[in-house]
Amino acid sequence: MTHIKVKVDGTAYEDDVEPRLLLVHYLRDRLGLTGTPIGCDTSNCGACTVELDGATVKSCSVLAVQADGGEVTTVQGLARDGEWTPLQHAFHERHGLQCGYCTPGMIMAARDLLRENPHPAPNEVRQALEGNLCRCTGYQNIVRAVLAAAEHQVGEEARA
Ligand code: FES
Ligand code: FES
Repeated sequence: MTHIKVKVDGTAYEDDVEPRLLLVHYLRDRLGLTGTPIGCDTSNCGACTVELDGATVKSCSVLAVQADGGEVTTVQGLARDGEWTPLQHAFHERHGLQCGYCTPGMIMAARDLLRENPHPAPNEVRQALEGNLCRCTGYQNIVRAVLAAAEHQVGEEARA
């Protein structure tokens, strides 16, 4: 067992974990943060995307011990005082989801894009989300949602 300390969505945790435990399993099974789904377990689908120390990662391809001393943000840590971010609103309003399974990963990946490129072109949105698979929507409304969020965002808070 390895002892880790990690901050997740603003809360500090300490745990003893198996060195082989994946971050996504740590989040879901130990911390109960089931808002981050597992879609494939082979780092193909992007459903498990979270932020680790400012970088977007697929949490099924990262070990929990690699997050030791670090800070993780999941989709469950985005809302502030119960208020969705503009990006979350945009997914809702532009019908950027159907079953919702891919949505946490899509939102985390799109959030990363908008921080880097606040006003992306449609093809830049598609490129940024190419590591995230959706079985339902045909992607059109996902791209529309990200573009809508980009249009409405003002300042750092809106990008979060
Ligand atoms: S569950 Fe991690 S990429 Fe599919
Ligand atoms: S909304 Fe169902 S997989 Fe994307």
